[in-house]
Amino acid sequence: MVGEGKGALAGEPHAAPAIRTTVVDHAPFLATVVADAAAAWIRQHPGGLVCLAAGDTPLPVYERLVALQAAGRVDLRSVFYVGLDEWVGLGYEDRGSCLQVMTDAFYGPAGIPAERRRVFDGLADPHAECAAVDRWIADHGRIGFTLLGIGLNGHIGFNEPGAPDQDGCVVVDLDDTTKAVSVKYFGTARPVRQGVSVSARALAKADTVLLMASGAKKAPIVARLRAGADPAEVPAARLLGHPGLHLFLDREADAG
Ligand code: GLP
Repeated sequence: MVGEGKGALAGEPHAAPAIRTTVVDHAPFLATVVADAAAAWIRQHPGGLVCLAAGDTPLPVYERLVALQAAGRVDLRSVFYVGLDEWVGLGYEDRGSCLQVMTDAFYGPAGIPAERRRVFDGLADPHAECAAVDRWIADHGRIGFTLLGIGLNGHIGFNEPGAPDQDGCVVVDLDDTTKAVSVKYFGTARPVRQGVSVSARALAKADTVLLMASGAKKAPIVARLRAGADPAEVPAARLLGHPGLHLFLDREADAG
């Protein structure tokens, strides 16, 4: 079942901007609904720039998009891509790097040519990478569509709580929650200290911003976001009020 609306949470402490929200029963169905929305955008915007998150939440979306392409329902090579973020110091050979995850789950299976994508190189100088990715985005006008996850601490990409709110890409000191969560990607503790990311401000310039969350552990941060959290504490709140923002939740993430 799919539920959709703009309803605000009951009992909010203050008026928060209503977010267009779709809630589905289960995470696998969520991936189907989000993939269909992404495919529709791609069909309508040949040559557009798409910014995709790594992280566990959207992975089933990428599998579904690749299947839609195989069925002839979308040409994923008709747009350009920019990677959302990367762990500074990690490259393709490092399990759980964004480059590895996205190459293996999406860019490779979808057959996206190298000249159609620019992702952060975590092994290069992060400030030089910021400048290069900023140029890539500027060369394509701006990001048209982005698919994001929200971290347990409210981050989008590596825009961490308290990180600078700036136009260009950002090099950010990772917060303790992100460092602790990183073990699930790497399979072991790694001494990651910084991330490099498209800024929340650049993401907020996209026409269409899909923000996904699934599972009970995301319910508290989703509830804080919907209640109009301070963006300095919950960076995803920088997207609030964006006319193209669409929140996609499973029932567990909606239950906060
Ligand atoms: C990670 C990444 C983000 C991701 C978010 C949620 O640390 N930096 O790009 O979207 O946190 O991740 P997950 O979907 O695994 O919960």
